Amino acid sequence: MNKDTLTMINNRTNEQYEFDILDATRGPSVVDISSFYKQTGMFTYDVGYTSTASCRSDITFIDGEKGELFYRGIPIEALATKHSFLETCYLLLNGHLPKRAELINFDLELRHRSFIDENLHRLIDAFPDSAHPMSILASGVSALSSFYYEHLNVADEQEYQDMARRIVAKIPTLAAFAHRKSLGIPFIYPDIDRSFTENFLYMLRAYPGGKMRRTVDGTGDIMPIEVEALDAIFTLHADHEQNASTTTVRNVASTGAHPYVAISAGISALWGRAHGGANESVIAQLEMIGDVNNVDKFIAKAKDPNDEFRLMGFGHRVYKNFDPRAKVLKQLQDQLKDELNLDSKLMEIAHKIEEIALNDEYFIKRNLYPNIDFYSGVILTALGIKRPMFTPIFVIGRSVGWVTQLMEFRNDKKSKIARPRQLYIGE
Ligand code: SDX
Repeated sequence: MNKDTLTMINNRTNEQYEFDILDATRGPSVVDISSFYKQTGMFTYDVGYTSTASCRSDITFIDGEKGELFYRGIPIEALATKHSFLETCYLLLNGHLPKRAELINFDLELRHRSFIDENLHRLIDAFPDSAHPMSILASGVSALSSFYYEHLNVADEQEYQDMARRIVAKIPTLAAFAHRKSLGIPFIYPDIDRSFTENFLYMLRAYPGGKMRRTVDGTGDIMPIEVEALDAIFTLHADHEQNASTTTVRNVASTGAHPYVAISAGISALWGRAHGGANESVIAQLEMIGDVNNVDKFIAKAKDPNDEFRLMGFGHRVYKNFDPRAKVLKQLQDQLKDELNLDSKLMEIAHKIEEIALNDEYFIKRNLYPNIDFYSGVILTALGIKRPMFTPIFVIGRSVGWVTQLMEFRNDKKSKIARPRQLYIGE
């Protein structure tokens, strides 16, 4: 059966080239240009890979025009509001939502795997108290490759699953330890009687001996609404197709490096403020703007081509519509604003920015909408989470996506070592 092809004509030489068109099950088809250099003697050129598909995948689908996101075919809105983060982790890792018994076993396994080797404490202790938790997290995850060196050559599906569950289970503990290190207070070990998300809040908040401070309304230790909010935030961050940090994970994995150093490289890539670091910058920016009356001045700065100021939490490489995750977070903000007494001043400034930007030609022409980072920070602040811990929270959610994408890469017989070429402009 002859495939549909794309024909190109080189107007310099009148040569004609044929490339196969491969169809997706959803979204844009691709033109297979793997023979482009062989046929034309030229390279394609696509800075930032704006029009380039790097792989085949059946994990996550994004429709940037419609602002839609699906994990394994299930809409993000359904997963974030009707399922737990652990169910989403199971879905990503196994391709289907877990049955009740599967979920119970998966939950228990992650609780048991949440402890880290005591020697890692010394690694964390070696950092200055001023260390950003992202630097500790990237180092701690890279160090795990020494404690689980057998994962370098993962042979079968079960070993993959073990490797994946270990990293998903241990990252929250490393993140919580990094936070407590920054405060100069003793680490709190995981409590296997608490659920994944509740346990993370517990490790952040508990006093030595496991006693909890009084919560917002002065009762109990951790409020269910806090666990629900953070659980939804983890789900919203779980995966996102071939973003910069996932591409980094795949590229490092493509050389045959240890899976945990690939994940560590993803953590480092996510740290940048153009990517996962934006959530921390959004709150800093809202606080810098300080008052709704200053919003116009900063919108003007964002539009000024000579001013490098950008509205953090706005714009996206793929979404040319509202980020569906931002919509879920905005609804969550509205739900929580009374129960968690969200910072109404920051919310007021954020809503003013959104209102002005969405009606301003500069933003409309460039399809700049709020993205996931624009709304997450206000909720995390209300949960008492300190700003340097915002991107580590993103890491906790995204770790399952990274390891799922890594497994897909390693299972794809068509995978190759990442080695792009260049347009040479030197001597
Ligand atoms: C995440 O890829 C993913 O999926 C990422 C992520 C995930 O889940 O993994 O969704 C998570 O990283 C969300 C994005 C968080 N980053 C920010 O909020 C930082 C602020 N946003 C931008 O820096 C920017 O929008 C990017 C990096 C997100 C996207 O950049 P692109 O696609 O490379 O677009 P661009 O830089 O080429 O900008 C296009 C135009 C430019 O203007 P012109 O040169 O055409 O005149 O839009 C302008 C830009 O100046 N622009 C902005 C802007 N973002 C883009 N102008 C003002 N404020 C902004 N935020």
